[in-house]
Amino acid sequence: MSSPATATGLPVISEIPALRAWRDAERVAGRRVALVPTMGALHEGHLALVDEARRRAQRVVMSIFVNPLQFGPSEDFQRYPRPLDRDRALAAARGVDLLFTPAVEVMYPPGSETRVVPGETASRWEGDVRPGHFAGVLTVVLKLFHLVEPDVAVFGQKDIQQATLIRRMVRDLDLRVDLVLSPTVRESDGVALSSRNAYLTPEQRVEARVLNRALRAADRAWREGGRDAAVLRRLIEGEFGLSPGVQPDYIAIVDPDTLSPVPVAVTGTIIAVAARVGSTRLLDNHILGREFR
Ligand code: PAF
Repeated sequence: MSSPATATGLPVISEIPALRAWRDAERVAGRRVALVPTMGALHEGHLALVDEARRRAQRVVMSIFVNPLQFGPSEDFQRYPRPLDRDRALAAARGVDLLFTPAVEVMYPPGSETRVVPGETASRWEGDVRPGHFAGVLTVVLKLFHLVEPDVAVFGQKDIQQATLIRRMVRDLDLRVDLVLSPTVRESDGVALSSRNAYLTPEQRVEARVLNRALRAADRAWREGGRDAAVLRRLIEGEFGLSPGVQPDYIAIVDPDTLSPVPVAVTGTIIAVAARVGSTRLLDNHILGREFR
């Protein structure tokens, strides 16, 4: 069902023909459109993407779609939070112009079988731990690009492998959209905002600080001249060693385009970490040379 406007005044569209009609009207009016793709459960990290989108376009579309294709069989698709009324109010207050909230059957009608097959860059790090995840992400993002036809789309730095793969897809498939990478938003203690933080107990939430602490330690060492990736990695491992409740999945010191490991860390090198805190997986990263945020 599509409803032109809700109690918040924010139009919500769930069907493709209505979305296309809205988009056509914006094109005729000559307005630039930005897309902020999300899976909902909005927090300040998503809303910062909206701010970024508003700086770059006259209209901002936010999609809220918990994409089943990007969840593995043992992952949290069913229990992923879906607080739609709250999300709608937050999006409206932040200046989103249109919410696109398709049902699963709208995005993947019966018989839908075509998928994006990512390249080598998807096979490591998150791709290694979550087989099929990035095929699901790229498929839904490509569909959203075709549906919304945005001039610009904004993604968060926190999911840096996702953003890298989307950039490569745009390049490889000649898609006409500008991409913006928006810096990670953090709590005051440095923990990166994530919808999955809601799963942490208060004790785990304290333990989760180690991801940020480890990245900061590496950044400090790099700023003091440490360029050897093996040394930076040991520093990060040392920090994780002080938090036995947190099990790192990987510590990646990598080239920003291929995400392959580098021996020497230079400006632009990405340090990405993923770790399990109880049953919750958390990600964080830092791009060397950028301000630590
Ligand atoms: O980053 C996310 O929330 C999702 O992976 C995305 C880009 C909305 C695709 O489902």
